[in-house]
Amino acid sequence: MNTQASIPSGSRSVSRVVKGQAVSDGAGVKLNRIIGQRDFDMLDPFLMLDEFRSDQADDYLAGFPNHPHRGFETVTYMLAGRMRHADNQGNSGLLSPGSVQWMTAGRGILHSEMPEQEDGLMWGFQLWVNLPARDKMTAPRYQDIPADNIPELEPTTGVALRVIAGRIDDVVGPVSGVATEPVYVDLSLQPGRAFDVPLPAGHNAFAYVYEGSASIGAGPAAKTVDRGGLAVLVEGDRVHVAAGDSATRLIIVAGKPLREPVAKHGPFVMNTPEQIVEAIRDFQSGAF
Ligand code: CO
Repeated sequence: MNTQASIPSGSRSVSRVVKGQAVSDGAGVKLNRIIGQRDFDMLDPFLMLDEFRSDQADDYLAGFPNHPHRGFETVTYMLAGRMRHADNQGNSGLLSPGSVQWMTAGRGILHSEMPEQEDGLMWGFQLWVNLPARDKMTAPRYQDIPADNIPELEPTTGVALRVIAGRIDDVVGPVSGVATEPVYVDLSLQPGRAFDVPLPAGHNAFAYVYEGSASIGAGPAAKTVDRGGLAVLVEGDRVHVAAGDSATRLIIVAGKPLREPVAKHGPFVMNTPEQIVEAIRDFQSGAF
């Protein structure tokens, strides 16, 4: 198929490719941390990106027992397996394959995220999205989105797109009212297929290849990114993605940079060290 004709001058290019680091978090869950690690601290407004993928129960069974969050949003996208979410306000929900939870922690929640399976594949992502200073102490909010409520497009044969947040042509994702005006899409390409994903020009953006390998960017500057690689996408109002001889799958995410000071301590992300001290004090005194 001739992809050259569809490449606009505003196509983003890849400024760097980041590989994740193996880490253990929660009560001993094995993760691949791509954003929020030594070599890639953050991509404003994104503070962390973890991929969890294992069919070894010992890697995930311990889960994430009760822990707090303040000052940002956690976004969980499940590809396989089931995770139970419960917080100290009595909210509870089951994340099943293809579903998304966009949780705005705001001034504070105390919750657990535990696998609801004892074997089989557990696979998905957790992304941390920063909140602007004015919203850090907002009331907590959940957007629990079942798989069926996420629109799936097939713009052309061999190209499938799930729109979790943002707008692709006239299809709008179900996540709403987020300060950083995010785009979050899951793109599947069959062998030899290509697609241009529109992205707001001023947003910071990345593509993470989670299956196969993809050519990302337009023309001679395109880079091949293999499974487990995150491409930082710069300058443009869309990104050109093409599959090679085999199928590929990626998440492509963009958000408006906040350009505010970041003070980070574990599950608390504020603007100043004083606000971190206050968060720790509030948590220890049971104010969450
Ligand atoms: Co959490």
